[in-house]
Amino acid sequence: MIDTANLPTVLVVDDEPSVLESFHAIFDGRFNVVTARSGNEALKKVARGSINVVFLDIALPDADGLQVLRSIRQCDGNVSVIMATASDSARMAVQALQWGACDYITKPFDAQELISAADKALRQERLTRKILSARAPQETCLFENIIGNGKKMKEIYSVIEKVITNDATVLISGESGTGKELIARAIHYNSGRKQKPFVPINCAGIPSNLLESELFGHERGAYTDATCQKLGMFELAHEGTLFLDEISGLKLEVQANLLRALEEREIRRLGGVRIIKIDVRIIAATNVDLRRAVEEKRFRHDLFYRLNVIPVYLAPLRERKEDIPLLVSHFVGKYNQVFRKNVDGFSADAMKYMTDYDWPGNVRELKNVVERLIALKDGGVIAPQDLPFDIFVKGSVRKSLDQAGALRQASKGFERKYIETVLERVGGNQVKAAKILGIHRNALFNKMKNFGLKKQAQGK
Ligand SMILES: Nc1ncnc2c1ncn2[C@@H]1O[C@H](COP(=O)(O)OP(=O)(O)OP(=O)(O)O)[C@@H](O)[C@H]1O
Ligand SMILES: [Mg+2]
Repeated sequence: MIDTANLPTVLVVDDEPSVLESFHAIFDGRFNVVTARSGNEALKKVARGSINVVFLDIALPDADGLQVLRSIRQCDGNVSVIMATASDSARMAVQALQWGACDYITKPFDAQELISAADKALRQERLTRKILSARAPQETCLFENIIGNGKKMKEIYSVIEKVITNDATVLISGESGTGKELIARAIHYNSGRKQKPFVPINCAGIPSNLLESELFGHERGAYTDATCQKLGMFELAHEGTLFLDEISGLKLEVQANLLRALEEREIRRLGGVRIIKIDVRIIAATNVDLRRAVEEKRFRHDLFYRLNVIPVYLAPLRERKEDIPLLVSHFVGKYNQVFRKNVDGFSADAMKYMTDYDWPGNVRELKNVVERLIALKDGGVIAPQDLPFDIFVKGSVRKSLDQAGALRQASKGFERKYIETVLERVGGNQVKAAKILGIHRNALFNKMKNFGLKKQAQGK
């Protein structure tokens, strides 16, 4: 008997029992064969993990194969999918490749062709996983990826540490580019749900009618364009995390449906009757003040309270400038690596410009600035003149204003002292003093008032 434990696993998705049988026969001893007779069943098996290669029939009874392909790729971006198409559907095959299939085979199958397609797909899958695991520390947004050790960031870390141990809903607010998605990913990838999908959806970027079907899915025929069944984000994020980005963009009617789903922990696909239980952690993000949106009746207050269980506020970068040098050196290191450069970092002067600038685009802007500087520089130290126009000019203007201010301050100080001395000399006689100073009595009176100089008792 063959030990199947160490064999790679192939999932064959086809509604035809004879096809499934023949895969079993052909792959016997080479692969573990798991089968699914519908798109839905296939997705469930992929979501459980440990599938290496999928053979997916493009014509399934319950769903469009391409749609299933897309859902599989969203669920596990590493698994290799081979589409099985009828011999006359080249267009479909092309579309399948565009949507992330690694190969396609045409019916009727040839045993040798199946084996070599599976071997090739397996090599591809191993390569993808290897690349991803090599990249994982930087790219999958682990905790260490969040840079900043100022007081405000430390508070954020302590909140994250608490919420990763539970499923509480988190609402992250902050200006654009402050790191909301980064924090959301860090929560997911450090939580017990990390093996399951993190599914982001931008609630502002999608028209409401489409958004509902993105969130809840739809059945075939739910509306005119619904030619096949589609799983929604709630189902795709099953046992994982659903990241509702730009939540303030939700129209009121979608808000009502979302609230219902969150309260009842179940959904129904559009046009469907079956109730589907959901198990997702919700993290929402907003770059506008949601409380204000509630006051202005643009956002339901009951939904706000349901989302705002654990609020996380990411302060704009200009309010946590202490993090800037650390962020700069982090990105210098990162882009030196990316561009294979050896730039030594920023001169003290240049760093001063970086910390003085107010970063309206927050960390994203800072990251882009450093990226560009490293890409353009061949080595050595980044000097103020290397900096982008905005940062250099605004910094310089501010500096010269500061200096002008200092001069003004100095001359004011000098003027006050001078008047005081003259007044002392003339025993407080303002008429005499005004004459010596060469100004009118009234002008002297005003200046004395402004400088807080008291009238002295006039000596005779
Ligand atoms: N504290 C941080 N440490 C390291 N990188 C950060 C930090 N904050 C943000 N970034 C980086 O800045 C970029 C923008 O972050 P992110 O996309 O999370 O911002 P956002 O708040 O979601 O912005 P938007 O509101 O525009 O969607 C990302 O590349 C992210 O990795
Ligand atoms: Mg974002």
